[in-house]
Amino acid sequence: MTTPSSAPPEVVRRVEQLRREIEEHNYRYFVVDAPTISDAEYDLLLRELRDLEARYPGLQTPDSPTQRVGAPPSEAFATVVHRQPMLSLANAFSVEELDAWHRRVVNILGDVPLAFVCELKIDGAAVSLTYEHGRFTRGATRGDGQRGEDVTPNLRTIRSIPLRWRVQPPPALVEVRAEVYLTREALAAINQERAAREEPLFANPRNAAAGSLRQLDPQVTASRPLDLFVYGVGAVEGVDLRTHRETLAWLREAGFRTNPHGRHCESLDEVKAYIPEWTARHHDLSYETDGVVIKVDSIAQQAELGATSQAPRWAIAYKFPAEQAITRVNNIVVYVGRTGALTPVASLDPVAVSGVTVTSATLHNEDEVRRKDVRIGDWVVVQRAGEVIPDVVRVLTERRTGDERLFEMPKTCPVCGTPVVRPESEAVTRCPNPACPAQVMGGLIHFASRGAMNIEGLGWKTLVRLVEKELIRDPADLYALRLEQLLGLERMAEKSAQNLLDAIERSKRTTLARLLYALGIRHVGATVAEILAAHFRDIHAVMDAPFEAVRDIPGIGPVIAESVVTFFQGPENRALVQRLLEAGVNPAPQEAPAGGPLTGRQFVFTGTLQRCTRPEAVARVEALGGAVASSVTVRTTDVVVGEQPGSKAEQARKRGIRLLQEAEFLTLIGEHP
Ligand code: IVH
Repeated sequence: MTTPSSAPPEVVRRVEQLRREIEEHNYRYFVVDAPTISDAEYDLLLRELRDLEARYPGLQTPDSPTQRVGAPPSEAFATVVHRQPMLSLANAFSVEELDAWHRRVVNILGDVPLAFVCELKIDGAAVSLTYEHGRFTRGATRGDGQRGEDVTPNLRTIRSIPLRWRVQPPPALVEVRAEVYLTREALAAINQERAAREEPLFANPRNAAAGSLRQLDPQVTASRPLDLFVYGVGAVEGVDLRTHRETLAWLREAGFRTNPHGRHCESLDEVKAYIPEWTARHHDLSYETDGVVIKVDSIAQQAELGATSQAPRWAIAYKFPAEQAITRVNNIVVYVGRTGALTPVASLDPVAVSGVTVTSATLHNEDEVRRKDVRIGDWVVVQRAGEVIPDVVRVLTERRTGDERLFEMPKTCPVCGTPVVRPESEAVTRCPNPACPAQVMGGLIHFASRGAMNIEGLGWKTLVRLVEKELIRDPADLYALRLEQLLGLERMAEKSAQNLLDAIERSKRTTLARLLYALGIRHVGATVAEILAAHFRDIHAVMDAPFEAVRDIPGIGPVIAESVVTFFQGPENRALVQRLLEAGVNPAPQEAPAGGPLTGRQFVFTGTLQRCTRPEAVARVEALGGAVASSVTVRTTDVVVGEQPGSKAEQARKRGIRLLQEAEFLTLIGEHP
């Protein structure tokens, strides 16, 4: 590096030292999962480096850790020509096809010793990371295999990608090949947010990972918890690698994350044992995989086998059986949601898809039904992608008999009979009647739900009875309910009536974020509610905030802002909030206490909690002074295990970290399980 005349040599040295240290901590935290300093100490190092770079701009370099999120949004992506093409893989769907591949290999190589490496095929987006003399200089998508898009600033936001080679001397040049992915959990969270904003959902982790990489604003990429596994190299200069296994070890030493489940196999029989093992186990991983990649281990043999224009002959992908099934659409029904949106849903003859019985699949909206041309009576292929609700993939038109019936979106709301509306620019058909029982009920259910006011024991049935008896019309009415009124309800004994009243009473002590979420403002999901609450801290401040003030909050934007402001302009909505406050609903101020009973403990959650939502649990832990992390590290003190836990439970068990069942966790945070 040249020394700019303005920076004294001790500053240049300090900057270099900070970069090295910070990258070392990134490696320990993100690659080997064994951090040695606290987040606060890390932040101090990063801040010192930022300050020095701000004072001496001549010292800034693109491979500084400060640049991981520092790049401005670009207008478009430049094209990158891969030095070595990024090929795809031939597929095998059965043992016979695997045997056929093996025979072709043996035919070319002759009767020589042959070893393999089996790896999981990660379902994400392929990238190529170019390192020149040890510096990460370019990262690109696969594109058409010959040329991809330059997404370097976006890839820099992934902290497990080393900006510098960890081993000296580094190779003159190498293209590291890797798969970028999102965990199922991250995908579910992103989709939940998108659903709240009524944006189209990502159908699978691959689309989500690719979409996140192809963001023009690296800040958006940085907000998505992307990670990657490296699985090979393209062009390499200045190293001699003899086997694939050696290549992976070399990449690991250089600071990359490789998948821990690969296996060296000395024979085809060992390969054949690996496949069923992972066909059974891959559902337990926290990320999606769609098969096993089998690679000939020796690089010399790989060279001898060569490649077709599409794929190498030395590797093959054995695909896991698709998580799809065929069934019949016995009806298409229309649901009216809390926002009045009419959603067509295919009612299906029950069918098992990856171990779960599916009886319905969303058709999203009218245009989707037309595009896929789904008719009542059709045979269809359905699939479950990750945590996403089942989806109709396509219609088996060849099975049509002519008796199928076309679906028509009703002209009036199926619940209240009001003529429905569909604005030109929107795909959603809506019931415009805010007094529609479907909307009222939807709103009440939402208000009482766990992530909102969390009124235990107030389910659908009780709410229907309360509405039918005209005891309540809106959420504020709940707080005026009296014991004798409840006792008049069907199936309501004194004890359960009292329990319900107690639960309603308890819900008054809440947080601003929960209250905002509970109001059911369009586009305000749990996360947006948290952001608004953290910013405004007071319900009146939110209610009176001008459009610009809401729009300019990071993470909000004009669509949400418009929705929030319009909501609070409505006199009936203001009156509702007023009545809630008068009834004693008391959102506590937002600040987390500096210390609390959970101070010093770090929690990691895995699996689905039954009695509270993830954001709720996180909020409670933080309110009690504890910290929450997304992965198990040396700093983790407690792992909370919900239904269908992922690999984190296993990691915790191995490391001897305390495991808490949901009930134990609830007791700990002072809730009654
Ligand atoms: S090796 C020249 N190994 O699958 C051989 N690919 O269908 C290149 N993938 O574009 C592929 N996990 O994005 C290989 N362990 C793994 C993989 C893997 C996922 C993806 C990769 C590639 C696609 C080929």
